[in-house]
Amino acid sequence: MELLISNLSCQAENENILNGVDLEVNKGDCLALLGPNGHGKSTLLNVIMSSPNYKVTGGSITFEGEDITSLSADQKSKAGIFLAFQNPPDVPGVITMDFFKAMINSHREKPISLYEFYKLTTENYQKVALDSSMASRHLNESYSGGEKKRNEILQMLLLKPKLALLDEIDSGLDVDALTIIAKNIEELRKEGTTFIIVSHYDRLLNLLNVNKTAVMVNGKIALTGDKSLADRISKEGYSFLSEEYNIDLKKKKEEPVSIGVCATRVTK
Ligand SMILES: Nc1ncnc2c1ncn2[C@@H]1O[C@H](COP(=O)(O)OP(=O)(O)OP(=O)(O)O)[C@@H](O)[C@H]1O
Ligand SMILES: [Mg+2]
Repeated sequence: MELLISNLSCQAENENILNGVDLEVNKGDCLALLGPNGHGKSTLLNVIMSSPNYKVTGGSITFEGEDITSLSADQKSKAGIFLAFQNPPDVPGVITMDFFKAMINSHREKPISLYEFYKLTTENYQKVALDSSMASRHLNESYSGGEKKRNEILQMLLLKPKLALLDEIDSGLDVDALTIIAKNIEELRKEGTTFIIVSHYDRLLNLLNVNKTAVMVNGKIALTGDKSLADRISKEGYSFLSEEYNIDLKKKKEEPVSIGVCATRVTK
């Protein structure tokens, strides 16, 4: 087992978002993580990667047999886990090239030579069909939507992770970029990378050899299956989940904490 998530729960702003996620991913899997908007897919990927925005309130994450629940994001990155953000943040003041170099060096014992760095980045800029002159710009700042997504894939190619979490990597991509990105994903997969891919569209999923599907509803994995489950969802939507599997698709929100009488001025 590459990744084993058991009974994982988390909170943000005192609200429960993940409510006991159970998920098993084997080495070499390409898992499509689907689910309606706002039900916790990005949260799960961010919690796997130790985002400081979420507080883990229960459960565990095991990667290659080790409990990594409490590791920091950089320790997880060094262990071989990579997250491509749904909305890659602008990082003004940080030149992309410097970021890439720091990123690569933090995964190696000895710093990369200038020649090797130049060769590696040039090769991989070509693979994602981005102009390598973008390396001298500030990270993600004023990048177009599609350029940001290609830049995320570029980072993945530079790091060659064991487990790649791709959050809506296909949103905003033109048709050619979609093909390019699918090709890069498949290439890494052949080298042994395991993928969890969040997407709302079947176009990317159909270009990939997806072998598993997991559906997240209300902060839990409500249903798992093979690729045919993803195909059915893209054809029919999610309503069959409630009709056939009795899964409640209504988004449950915790009642806001009542401040009761403390905030009430009683007037007689
Ligand atoms: N840091 C946060 N603070 C407060 N609420 C949050 C935070 N992060 C996520 N949420 C809420 O948690 C719920 C799940 O969000 P999440 O981004 O995981 O959904 P998603 O399944 O990825 O949706 P989408 O398909 O639209 O990307 C949403 O209601 C969201 O508003
Ligand atoms: Mg999301």
